Amino acid sequence: MVRHIHETAKEVVLAVDADPNANLGAKLGTEPGRTLGSIREDMLARGEEEPPTGMPKQEYLDYQIKLALKEGDGFDLLTMGRQEGPGCYCYVNNMLRTIVDSISEKYGFVVIDNEAGMEHLSRRTTRASNVLFVLCDETKGSQSAARRISQLSDEMRLAIGRKALVFNRLEPGSSGPPIGHMDGFHAVYGVRSSGAILARAEETESLLSIPRGDPAFTDIAKAVEAERRAR
Ligand SMILES: Nc1ncnc2c1ncn2[C@@H]1O[C@H](COP(=O)(O)OP(=O)(O)OP(=O)(O)O)[C@@H](O)[C@H]1O
Ligand SMILES: [Mg+2]
Repeated sequence: MVRHIHETAKEVVLAVDADPNANLGAKLGTEPGRTLGSIREDMLARGEEEPPTGMPKQEYLDYQIKLALKEGDGFDLLTMGRQEGPGCYCYVNNMLRTIVDSISEKYGFVVIDNEAGMEHLSRRTTRASNVLFVLCDETKGSQSAARRISQLSDEMRLAIGRKALVFNRLEPGSSGPPIGHMDGFHAVYGVRSSGAILARAEETESLLSIPRGDPAFTDIAKAVEAERRAR
């Protein structure tokens, strides 16, 4: 998705890895920068204080952003890192939200790779999402999990424009998703299984080098374009 958007929009995309078990950087062939998790630990170690004395708040935020952002090929990577431990770190979390919000303001496209579940998303950014893609497979269990995520995002009143269900790893010969509609979703897409992705998974090799005609790449590009038209 990151590569397709970069290649078509000709813009640097902000790629956010919001999964504590971070691997988006590896898949994009880029080492993560300082994670926001480790920046938070630093701030906590200093006693949740305001920016170091004498430093204006905006300057402090810009400095943290520089530490966290990693430049890649057509994208900038922001890695959240591990979640907070026990205790209430409201001040620090608000600070992080401000950091994420002010980073994403600078980009036309932001792609967030989330862990399953919505709590994470709501805690880390206050900004609206145009599209939420929820991935599932053809099993009933996976589809009901996807439905629950959709319901949860409604209950949490997350500002999400559209929700799209994506059946991943369809048979190579498949002509599309097994169903055309699912309650709670504006659209349903299919992504075929890809030999090139599987081969690279063995060594967590970057996915940026998969051929343009790859079935999964083609299907993802199609879904992204359909969502851009739907907006
Ligand atoms: N369309 C596809 N074609 C081939 N292999 C795929 C496809 N989608 C996913 N995979 C394989 O499955 C692995 C896990 O997929 P994916 O990263 O989507 O799952 P995940 O649940 O997000 O994993 P994690 O929890 O580690 O983030 C990938 O590394 C890749 O090897
Ligand atoms: Mg993942």
